Amino acid sequence: MAANSGSLYGQFVGPLLAADGGADAEQLSQLTLTALAQASLRRRWPVVSGALNGLAAELQRTDPRLGQSLFGCRFANPVGLAAGFDKNAVAAGIWHCFGFGFAELGTVTWHGQPGNPKPRLFRLAAEQAALNRMGFNNGGAQEVRRILERQKLRPTGQRPAVLGINLGKSKITPLELAPDDYASSLELLAPLADYAVINVSSPNTPGLRELQEEVLLRRLVERLRRLPACPPLLVKIAPDLEDDAIDSIARMAYEEGLAGVIAVNTSLNRLGLEQRRLVQTGRTLAEEAGGLSGVPLRARALEVLRRLRATAGPALPLIGVGGINSAQAAWERISAGAALVQLYTGWIYQGPTLVPQILEGFSQQLDRHGLAHIGEAVGSGLPWRD
Ligand SMILES: Cc1cc2nc3c(=O)[nH]c(=O)nc-3n(C[C@H](O)[C@H](O)[C@H](O)COP(=O)(O)O)c2cc1C
Repeated sequence: MAANSGSLYGQFVGPLLAADGGADAEQLSQLTLTALAQASLRRRWPVVSGALNGLAAELQRTDPRLGQSLFGCRFANPVGLAAGFDKNAVAAGIWHCFGFGFAELGTVTWHGQPGNPKPRLFRLAAEQAALNRMGFNNGGAQEVRRILERQKLRPTGQRPAVLGINLGKSKITPLELAPDDYASSLELLAPLADYAVINVSSPNTPGLRELQEEVLLRRLVERLRRLPACPPLLVKIAPDLEDDAIDSIARMAYEEGLAGVIAVNTSLNRLGLEQRRLVQTGRTLAEEAGGLSGVPLRARALEVLRRLRATAGPALPLIGVGGINSAQAAWERISAGAALVQLYTGWIYQGPTLVPQILEGFSQQLDRHGLAHIGEAVGSGLPWRD
């Protein structure tokens, strides 16, 4: 058998992910990131570049029909890595090798912070889901800037994968001072970001989600807009918002000329898994703090996306994320109005071949529906065709 990344992942990582217990979820992620960080720093060394080229040959799919220009960024394809995996941007230089058209780095806060006590990331293997209460553990904006600079990336607009930077509020900053906290991070990181995301939807920073309220959000957006160089700005929202709150964000985003809305973050709702116990703590999900991600979130994520699209119309770019673990689930999101999709939990369970699987699925659906370009599928309501 060829030792490609798909078969290696299936052989070695798959079994570790098949049970809730055993290998610690955060340690596994950390191990992977440490290796990826080294690969990104040394990606021009012959041995490393050979290995990365091999990875790219296996995982990248180039179909010009899947390319799009949105908010001034050129996306080679619509599949991205969601925020939270590469919080310190250590692998920014190599995400394209995994086939991604874009990667969202962060969440980055102004002050470096350790996050919540461990354990804080739990697998729910049978449901292809996860519960996390990481709490924005990251090195802080200044450290992340240094990490990015050390990787000697190409300038914004000229990279093989678009790089977004997702920003959050530092835990120690009071809510009233949130606009300045986000602005300090953005000012420092703007030169390195193709786009920036205002994350007001993590359930693991006390008070953060209050910033989704229209008046506070508008104030925050206006503060960031005043910066001398502000990249395209998107807002990332929670799946737990009421319909009228979703509508007011959609309207605000449209009126303020935001670049887009990302739907959704992890959920505080237990989505039918209230009585599910964590093997590590013996407590039920109803009793545990944290946000739920993965397959149980899929239906709600789709619902929120549909609502955004209905209120904001086709002019506001939407990014669909939450529970995507197959080409069909990704297509459903595009068809409901997402111009782009992002993966996190599904990518961990399915492994790196999920990206080419989705891209091939998209190309095939374009053929089957007689469409010339992915843009024609966005918000089309067209079903998946077997
Ligand atoms: C361990 C973990 C950490 C995350 N950290 C962040 C984060 O720092 N910022 C953020 O905006 N979203 C974060 N997310 C949310 C994901 O970006 C995504 O919105 C959510 O998990 C739903 O997608 P999924 O079902 O494909 O995982 C995190 C998710 C997980 C599982």
